[in-house]
Amino acid sequence: MDSESLIKKFDKQANKYNKRRKNDSAYKFRERIFQEAEGKVLEVAIGSGLNFPFYNKEVELTGVDFSREMLKTARDAAKEYPFEATFIQEDVEFVEFNENTFDTIVSSGTLCAYQKLGNVLNNFQKWCKPEGRILLMEHGISTNKPLAWLQKTLDPLALNFVGCHQNRNITEIVKKSRLKIIREERQLAGYLYLIWAKP
Ligand SMILES: C[S@@+](CC[C@H](N)C(=O)[O-])C[C@H]1O[C@@H](n2cnc3c(N)ncnc32)[C@H](O)[C@@H]1O
Repeated sequence: MDSESLIKKFDKQANKYNKRRKNDSAYKFRERIFQEAEGKVLEVAIGSGLNFPFYNKEVELTGVDFSREMLKTARDAAKEYPFEATFIQEDVEFVEFNENTFDTIVSSGTLCAYQKLGNVLNNFQKWCKPEGRILLMEHGISTNKPLAWLQKTLDPLALNFVGCHQNRNITEIVKKSRLKIIREERQLAGYLYLIWAKP
């Protein structure tokens, strides 16, 4: 799908994401992994900013998203938090940062959306400081067979409606990249992947 069509789909979902701020079903998983974010933090495809409650007041956040509407909700939400935040409207697949810029790179629910995943993950490796960390909370193919079958069957439909794939094996994708997995957990019938990685 071309990026213009994807942006339109995500623009339309900005309000829905904003409403999840108080009752997001993955709240406790976000909290567990993203409270480890430190220093200069890059959050890719930041959406409406659902991870803001978990960042400590010292972080310097850079948030990237290609959806203007998502960024608008994130910018408004950030006013209620004590950390410094800068927002950039760009495509994560093409945005550029200097090497070794960030202490932490955060991604939640974004690896379902990119066209060239390998490039994005390898860029994380470049942009992250060697001693930094990469924190991922992603959805993908489940370990539960009936659910996995449903995810594969519904994938084209989901892509068309919400702009993201349901059938990606996130662990395999990360393993094929230049990132090194330190720890991994699967939650919610194995459909939610929590991955702690290093560049
Ligand atoms: C499923 S939402 C997740 C939002 C947020 N990370 C969260 O955890 O709630 C996917 C987000 O990725 C953004 N996105 C998808 N592909 C992108 C790309 N190539 N460049 C920048 N943003 C992208 C969408 O605009 C949307 O905000």
